[in-house]
Order: sequence, then structure tokens, then C-alpha cells
Amino acid sequence: MFRAAILTASDRGSRGEREDKSGKVIEEIVKGLGGEVVEYVMVPDDLESIKKQLMVFADQSKAHLILTTGGTGLSPRDNTPEATLEVVDRLVPGLAEAMRAESLKKTPHAMLSRAVCGVRGGSLIINLPGSPKAVRECLEVVEPALPHALELLKGQVTDCGQS
Ligand code: MTE
Repeated sequence: MFRAAILTASDRGSRGEREDKSGKVIEEIVKGLGGEVVEYVMVPDDLESIKKQLMVFADQSKAHLILTTGGTGLSPRDNTPEATLEVVDRLVPGLAEAMRAESLKKTPHAMLSRAVCGVRGGSLIINLPGSPKAVRECLEVVEPALPHALELLKGQVTDCGQS
């Protein structure tokens, strides 16, 4: 069992003008993996709102896994990677590299996602693109490495070769 928090970055969603289908897809997948969704918040696409919420999820809610959706592209209001970079202690580049590499097999637009992944305290933060399809495709890629990543973060594994 792990504690998960979901952040949807969307100006229109946060104004109630758009249904958050991607956040719901994440929720469904997390539950399928045996995780408990302890927080689920939608914020506008501004840097400070995203940063603040990520810090609350990591420092107060003590989420083991924080999944964001949206705001990883090139439009002027896409700020999720910058917000994530400002709050993480360490990057986990392989997760974002793997998501982009596998996603490229599905769409050339995958190279337009600037998603980053990293660790803040005991929380692993993973940026996902905004569409429900992209969320499913990217989570499918990182899913096999998640249990081990979360064990490592909790300090439950001292010798990777034995696990
Ligand atoms: N990755 C996957 N697996 N599948 C997709 O459909 N869409 C791409 C890309 N990554 C996509 C994907 C598109 S169209 C964009 S613009 C970027 O993610 C950024 O999306 P975002 O701004 O919604 O985060």
C-alpha cells in the first residue's frame, strides 16, 4: 500500500469549465496498483500554485507518490516542469526518458512533453502530459519500476541485487 496524491494543472479545469478526465484516469490506475489516493487537487497553470501544492503533498500529506497531469508542453501557460524542478531535491531522469522514448512509438508529439520526475523528501514526483490517453500510455511505461522505486524511497531496500 502506498499513499498517492494527484495534481491536475489546468486553468479551465480549475475554473470549472472542463471535466478532469485525466485526474480520474490516474486515480483509477493508482487504485488498481493498490495505492490509496489521499489527495486530489486541481490548480491553475501558474508556477506558484503548482509549486505550493506539490510542497503540501510532499511535506504535509506525506504522499509517497505524487502524479501531476498537464502543463508539460510548450504553450506559455505550461509551467508544471518548472514548478517541479523548483521543489525536487533530486531528479530521476530515467523515468521521464523512458516515458518519452516509449511514447514516441505511439506519437511524434511525445517529444513535445517536457515532463520531469524527481524526489522531494520521501515523495516521488512524476509529471504526466495532460490528455487521458497520454496519462494511460505514460503510466503503463513507469508502472513496472514503481514498486521498487517506492521501496527504495522508504529505505526498505538496502541491497537491490537481493530484491
Ligand atoms: N505522450 C503520450 N504517451 N501520448 C500522447 O498522446 N501527447 C503529447 C505529449 N506526450 C502525448 C504524449 C502532446 S500532443 C503534447 S503537446 C505534450 O505531451 C505535452 O502535453 P501537455 O501540455 O498536455 O502536458
